[in-house]
Amino acid sequence: MIATELTRRLGLRLPIIGAPMAGPGLGALTRAVSAAGGLGMLGVSNRSDAAFVREEAAIAAAGGSPFGIGLQLWAMDGQPGLFDEVCASGAALVAVSFGDPVSYVRPLHEAGALVASQVSTAAEAVAAARAGVDVVIAQGADAGGHSGAVIGTLPLLQTVLEALEGSSAMVVAAGGIGTGRGLAAVLAAGAQAGLVGTRLLAATEAAGKPSAKRKVIEADAEDTVLTRVFDIGAGLAWPSRYPGRALRNDFADRWHGHEEALSVDQAEARTTLAQAARDGDYSQAVIYASSAAEFVRAEQPVAEILDQLAADAEHHLAAVRDLLA
Ligand SMILES: Cc1cc2nc3c(=O)[nH]c(=O)nc-3n(C[C@H](O)[C@H](O)[C@H](O)COP(=O)(O)O)c2cc1C
Repeated sequence: MIATELTRRLGLRLPIIGAPMAGPGLGALTRAVSAAGGLGMLGVSNRSDAAFVREEAAIAAAGGSPFGIGLQLWAMDGQPGLFDEVCASGAALVAVSFGDPVSYVRPLHEAGALVASQVSTAAEAVAAARAGVDVVIAQGADAGGHSGAVIGTLPLLQTVLEALEGSSAMVVAAGGIGTGRGLAAVLAAGAQAGLVGTRLLAATEAAGKPSAKRKVIEADAEDTVLTRVFDIGAGLAWPSRYPGRALRNDFADRWHGHEEALSVDQAEARTTLAQAARDGDYSQAVIYASSAAEFVRAEQPVAEILDQLAADAEHHLAAVRDLLA
């Protein structure tokens, strides 16, 4: 069994956090990750409202295990009441990412939650820790979904751990963790847990069309692109410093590198993307995912995925310990 300060503080059996993933990460996935001994996190999208949080958090909470919620700060202004629902949800950990976390720390602490934030640089990590963020998530540019990082998880994790040496903030690593080897590597480096997103995309409990899960299962490590074209095409106001890592498809191949032209043709692209998402046509519609898709080879229950990740990590950490003998 692997125990860290974070697993003890949150009462987890496994040093694994299920990434908040707007779309696939609804209450059912959150609850399943928590029931399996990790910490599940509900993904709140930029289009989610207060009622969404109330309903999905209730599903997560009904499992009786601690769970978390992940917010996209850039989109919070347009959602009255959403943050109050988060505070009332009973979440043990709330991630406030993609924006300045400072003003969210106090109300979340008052609500009894630990506060996390995904950071892209050591400077952001230091600022988050100074603001009272308890869990700093070093999210590398190899993460699936949106990220402000320009460096990969391993270099970012090293700079963040060094920058926060002596701080009370706990560091978690995110981006590209798909096996027990990856989990062992970040734990050995000093992370308190691995935050795992893509590896859970084809989990039985993840939301999503079967055809989208199939695409993740079929994808190889080389099949992703970090791009803004899906946000520009859909007319989403994601700040430009946060591109998203997605599976390459015809839409990305056509527009990546031609973002200005896409802005001009945006109305048509918006219709195309919306229709494709409804039809499950992933030659056009987006599937956010990282190279960890390489390690997704079948639809599996969450408990099986987490047990395997943790058992393999334990095995590899024991092997590392033997190197010292
Ligand atoms: C489909 C998908 C949706 C995501 N949505 C969110 C989100 O709503 N909020 C957030 O903070 N991070 C989001 N992320 C990023 C994850 O929290 C996490 O950083 C990432 O999945 C880690 O990298 P990995 O996918 O290689 O495991 C998303 C990632 C994916 C793959």
